[in-house]
Amino acid sequence: MTQREQAGRTWAFRAAVEVEVQGVFHALAANSRGAPQALRALTERAAQDEGRHRVECAELAESLGVLVPELPVARAGLLGPPTLSTDRRALFTAVALGCITESISAALLGEMLEHAQGLARNVVHGVLRDEVDHARIGWGWLAWQAQNSDVSWLGAHVPAMIAAALPREQVDSGVDLREFGILSGDRARTIPQEVIQDVLRPGFAQFNILF
Ligand SMILES: [Fe+2]
Ligand SMILES: [Fe+2]
Repeated sequence: MTQREQAGRTWAFRAAVEVEVQGVFHALAANSRGAPQALRALTERAAQDEGRHRVECAELAESLGVLVPELPVARAGLLGPPTLSTDRRALFTAVALGCITESISAALLGEMLEHAQGLARNVVHGVLRDEVDHARIGWGWLAWQAQNSDVSWLGAHVPAMIAAALPREQVDSGVDLREFGILSGDRARTIPQEVIQDVLRPGFAQFNILF
């Protein structure tokens, strides 16, 4: 496989992940009644953003010679154990997807931007800008819910949320694909750990969420 093809496969995989995330933001938006208007608007926009990311990732994959099948919009529900109330599952979803997945994603994209070239650079730049807003949905949701309720129960779930958020790409072949917006396997493993220590632990501790 050529380097371009390896990179294209990774972007095709990313396009599929964007569709999954889009479905979850749709579910979260559908369960945002009672949330501050700005937060509801941000959540609805996030679902649209992810649809655009899917298209951009797929176009990049195709420019690298990898065809991406048309993917239907995923019909996802809220994340979290079905034994939780709907309000708690909405909070679980906002935290898992916003605070954790999007914060890790933004950090990875930030480093990708330092090396990416051409179309890959444009795509990384556009996606990064949106992911920063998507992370704010998680922190905003948490702040809103913490006004009237104890949210420390989330602590028991954070390790599993983190495990689910770690990059699932397989990119360690010793070739340097950074110009295509793909980090080395080593950096893809260490950056999330930095986010956990520098962003998630202190951020969650403010809400008495310990893990
Ligand atoms: Fe995205
Ligand atoms: Fe996002």
